[in-house]
Parts: sequence; C-alpha cells; structure tokens
Amino acid sequence: MTILDVRSRDVLEQVPKGVCDELGLRQAHELTGGGTPAQVYRCEDADGNVVVVKLLRAGAGAGAGTVDGHDLGSFLRKPAQIARIHRELPGLSPHYVPLVGQWQGRDWGAYAMPWIDGVSPVTLLHGGEGGGQQFLAALQSVFGVLGTHGYAASAMPAPPGHGISTHLDRLTRRLPLLTRHLGRLVDEVDLRVNGRAVPSARELLRRTAARADVLAAIEPTQLYYPVHGDLNLGNLMLGTDGGPGRDLGPRFTVVDPRGIDEHWDPVYDAAKALFSLTLFDAAMAGGFEIGRDARGYQVRLRCPVQAYNTAAAQVPATLMTVEFFRHLGHTDPLWLRRLLYAHAFHVLAEAACRLSDQTVRTFPGASGWAARRELALGLYLSGLLLLDDLLSGPSDPESDPAAHLACLTTVDGSAAASSSPS
Ligand SMILES: Nc1ncnc2c1ncn2[C@@H]1O[C@H](COP(=O)(O)OP(=O)(O)O)[C@@H](O)[C@H]1O
Ligand SMILES: [Mg+2]
Repeated sequence: MTILDVRSRDVLEQVPKGVCDELGLRQAHELTGGGTPAQVYRCEDADGNVVVVKLLRAGAGAGAGTVDGHDLGSFLRKPAQIARIHRELPGLSPHYVPLVGQWQGRDWGAYAMPWIDGVSPVTLLHGGEGGGQQFLAALQSVFGVLGTHGYAASAMPAPPGHGISTHLDRLTRRLPLLTRHLGRLVDEVDLRVNGRAVPSARELLRRTAARADVLAAIEPTQLYYPVHGDLNLGNLMLGTDGGPGRDLGPRFTVVDPRGIDEHWDPVYDAAKALFSLTLFDAAMAGGFEIGRDARGYQVRLRCPVQAYNTAAAQVPATLMTVEFFRHLGHTDPLWLRRLLYAHAFHVLAEAACRLSDQTVRTFPGASGWAARRELALGLYLSGLLLLDDLLSGPSDPESDPAAHLACLTTVDGSAAASSSPS
C-alpha cells in the first residue's frame, strides 16, 4: 500500500504549457499517494529523464470547502521553504528534495523536483519479522538528522499561546466545515463510539481550554528552525538504490514541506509521523468501516495493520533516544505529553482535510465524495476517542502511550479482534 500509485493514463495536457515547454516534457502520469488537493505528476522528457511536477490550481477542493493549508498561497510557500533549507542548512540539504523549477500562473502554482527513487518508511513494516525494529531504527535515524542538522539550527522562545492557536484554534476554525458535511454529530452530546460515551469536538475543545495542566503541556517552551511542518511518513522517502545522502548517514529524502517560514514545534512533526502509523496511512489505503445502531457508532479501520499499531506504541520511546528530543526534555519536560495531545488534535483536524482533498479514492462501498466523507467521519470519531481518553485518563498519559493508543482499538471495553498482518 505504500508503493507509489501511478495512474497509467498520460495526462500531459493537465500540466501547464509553460512548464512542459521549459522542461521539455513528453508525458505525465499522476501519482496518487499524497493527501492534498495538489496534483503530483511523474513526467518524462524526450530523453527519458524523469521529473516530478506538483501543481495546485486555486479553488481545488473548494466544492466542499478548503481548509487552511490547502490554499494556493500556502502551496507557493513550499518551494520557498525547500530553497531556504538548501541555502541555509548544509547538513540537511542532502536529505531534502532539490528544486528543478517553480512557476506561478494567474490561478495556479507549480514546482518540479527530480524523481526520488524511494519508499515510505512504513514499507519496512510490511517486511515480516525484524521489520518493526528496522522501521524504528530508520525513524530514529531520520529524526536524528532532522534534529541535529535541522531543528537545532536555530531556536527562539515560543510566543505565548502558540500551542492554543496551533491546535485548539485550528480545530475551531475547521468545525464549520465538519458541521456542514457531518451534520449534527459535531455538536451531539450523547455520542457513543465503540461503546464509549464521548463528548462532541466542541465540548472537548471547551474541556481542553479549561484544563490548565493540559494547556501547559500543549505550549512548547521554544520553537525551532522550520524543517517541515507536515511530516506524515508519506513525505519521507527511504532510498532504495543510493539516493541523496548516501554517504551522510541514513539514506532518506524529505518531500512536501508545509510551506512555513516561521519557527515551528518539532513535536508537531513527530505527532504527524505517529498519526501515519495509528490511522492515516491505513485509512487512506482502505478507509473505515463505520456502523451505527442503538448502541451508537462503531468505527474501525477497514484494513488495519497490526505492525503499524505495534510501531506506533514505540514511537515515543524511540524519539526519546534521539539526541535532539533528549535535550528537549531538559527545557520542555512536557513534550511527550504534547506529542499525544498534538496527535489527537491532528486526527480531528485531518477529518476536515479529507473533505477538502479532491483526490478520487475508492473503498469497498464508497468512492469519490462518499469515500471522502467516510474518511472524514472515521477520523472524526477516532479523534473524539483519542482526545476524550487523554482528558479523562491519567494526568500523565505519556507514561504509558500504548495504553492511550489502545483506545482506538478497544470496543465495548475490550481489545478488538486482532487485525490482519498487512
Ligand atoms: N520527487 C518525488 N519523487 C518521487 N516521488 C514523489 C516525489 N514527490 C512526491 N512523490 C510521491 O508522491 C506523493 C505525493 O506527493 P506530495 O508532494 O506529498 O503531495 P501531497 O501534497 O498531496 O501530499 C508523495 O507521498 C510521494 O510518494
Ligand atoms: Mg505529502
């Protein structure tokens, strides 16, 4: 499921003419592995050289409503962030996708990169015995490089309220979009999900805002160099045949930064990586099974991957072995708790992103808009479970992350039937 999806139809006509002419493109095939309304094309020129062109047209996704971050302005900042990293961070540059060109039209933007021969790190988790250890070792190496050569390049005190605006305000901004498409559910008070009574997102936001101890954990003490900002594991490509960075440690290449130029909380990136394992990758591949009866909602990933769950529970301990995060513990002792809260907020916020992403997906029984709604609803219900578990559980959930994450697979108080291996 993590091997690139490349559509077979040649869609060169979708690539703006100026881009085709400048790069001498002869064919273009769409890559469907991403998660935003942008189109990503694997293109070839007359000599068979391969480049990847990423294109966003203003208004893509606007039918359902566009979330912040899926707009053209944010898109245009992505190549700027890539260029800045190559200029300013010599240690990280070999691990970051290079830019071949960038273009801006009246209502579109595009940039081109070399083709990176690589796979998402989760591919290791499909490798059978030993895959889990290899995956965690890769994750440790990647964050080791990002930490030492990236985040640590500069730091500044976090402005007061940074965590609230990043997590709580973002979800508040997205509630109207969720309400428009998920209806009353967003405000429903007597909701049961997998046998557990959960408050609505609005109520969870209110409870979060009322908890001084939680707000303290959500606030980073420092912000660091803007290395990425959207580090789901699909945006990391492990080299398969000697990609960039070969002699510099782990062979990996970072693609698709958020498009930020301000300092950032590295824990946000780590939480995105965790979210890839707990829900995002398996949801994008297979969707959710969602039922509703007198007992409330039942939600589960349609194609869960046990190895992802096992790895997810070990992410916090793995990060603690990374020098950057070990040091972070001295100045920001609650960062691991923030990781779990940031993860729960990502899940809820991502529910809205699924409504704004126009990529056509097909799951058993749902495709197109219905598949997008299925993803949004599945993530929304899962996010309620996670945030409610944090707010109503022990005050130090980071001491047993596995117990917290198990709330996703617990049905009527006991663990769900064991999931398929792949
Ligand atoms: N330069 C590249 N070389 C090879 N594959 C790429 C390249 N850029 C992107 N991809 C693949 O396409 C997917 C989608 O691209 P991405 O830029 O992440 O789009 P999105 O914004 O939709 O997430 C990536 O997850 C990766 O698998
Ligand atoms: Mg991406």
